[in-house]
Amino acid sequence: MKNVLSSNELKRFWDKFTSSYLKTSNSIDSLFTTMCNLTMLEDLNKQVKIKNVLELACGPGKGLIHLANIFQGQNATICGTDLSTKMLDVAYDNLKRRKDINVEYKNFRNSSDSQSNESDRPTFHLYECDNENMDIFHDKNFDVLLSITHSTL
Ligand SMILES: C[S@@+](CC[C@H](N)C(=O)[O-])C[C@H]1O[C@@H](n2cnc3c(N)ncnc32)[C@H](O)[C@@H]1O
Repeated sequence: MKNVLSSNELKRFWDKFTSSYLKTSNSIDSLFTTMCNLTMLEDLNKQVKIKNVLELACGPGKGLIHLANIFQGQNATICGTDLSTKMLDVAYDNLKRRKDINVEYKNFRNSSDSQSNESDRPTFHLYECDNENMDIFHDKNFDVLLSITHSTL
């Protein structure tokens, strides 16, 4: 399915909407659905150690923070994509507060973080990209693909 809005229009919309989204994205229904999905993932991870996760349209990183809890102490790679720079900035700030994970912010910041990657913890990679063009992942494999929402829209 093609976007009705262009990639740039979508980016402008979500960049503008970031601060309102942060205030409104906590409805009980959407939190319930999110928690169900994440509980399933947590159970699955107990049975088969998951190594690679991709969260599409991760927004301000609420899902990623749940994933940081699920994969605590585990050498897993978790990638989050979003086309909004503003959303990713919030996600990055939220993840950076955690001392038990590695975080790298890719694409538009040329160099990745200098923080050392310790292997007894999950590593998070944030990518600014449109989900319609996932070429950057052409050589990657993921065990789990997630796209969750906390939205009230
Ligand atoms: C409703 S928010 C959900 C954010 C996050 N998953 C959460 O649960 O809080 C939708 C997100 O999708 C992103 N988005 C919309 N269209 C996209 C696209 N084509 N490619 C990548 N991200 C997109 C927006 O920038 C926004 O951050």
